[in-house]
Amino acid sequence: MGLDWEQRYQSLDTPWDKGKATPGLLEFLSNHPLSGKILVVGCGYGHDVRALSQQGCQVVGVDFAPSAIAAAQSFPTVGDETYLIADIFNLPKELDSSFDWVWEHTCFCAIAPEQRPNYVKSVATVLKRSGKLLAVFFVNPPNQGNGPPYGVKVNELDELFAPHFTLLEDWQPAQAYPGWEGRERMRLLQKND
Ligand SMILES: C[S@@+](CC[C@H](N)C(=O)[O-])C[C@H]1O[C@@H](n2cnc3c(N)ncnc32)[C@H](O)[C@@H]1O
Repeated sequence: MGLDWEQRYQSLDTPWDKGKATPGLLEFLSNHPLSGKILVVGCGYGHDVRALSQQGCQVVGVDFAPSAIAAAQSFPTVGDETYLIADIFNLPKELDSSFDWVWEHTCFCAIAPEQRPNYVKSVATVLKRSGKLLAVFFVNPPNQGNGPPYGVKVNELDELFAPHFTLLEDWQPAQAYPGWEGRERMRLLQKND
């Protein structure tokens, strides 16, 4: 069953939004400052976009829910961040091969599992040669019902990304939102040339 994301934003029914950047991202950034051009997929209200932009990165947040993007744009600008209303499965051609990084948090788990191979292709398409995907994946979400968040097994991640990416690192973040401790897996993957 899909979710009407725009409707949820219009109703302000957004329990996934914690009002701040993803703890695992902040943990990573404290040890590995990023630079270059970064795409944040399914950016919602854009807290991660701004955390990255504050570091000096050029960041584009993309989400197909217009109300999410409007809310993201209403926050004060902190650096070089922009937002785009678009479907990650139909991104503008001019974004092809243009990003050094893609940041993923709660977009992969929001899409239907059968769309995952297309997700991998979309991310590979927007990355430059040897570009990297930094991601939080939910390997053990609390609800395993008909709708998102859809969990994923580690061996499924291996198989899905193998055609286009090489796994560089895999770890469990020490920092997580309350209730998500031990349910997340972070991965750093590099696009195959
Ligand atoms: C669970 S929310 C997470 C939002 C944000 N990453 C956060 O951590 O608050 C999932 C987001 O993905 C967006 N989304 C889902 N499918 C998408 C698609 N095909 N293209 C673009 N955005 C999508 C939704 O609109 C929603 O904002």
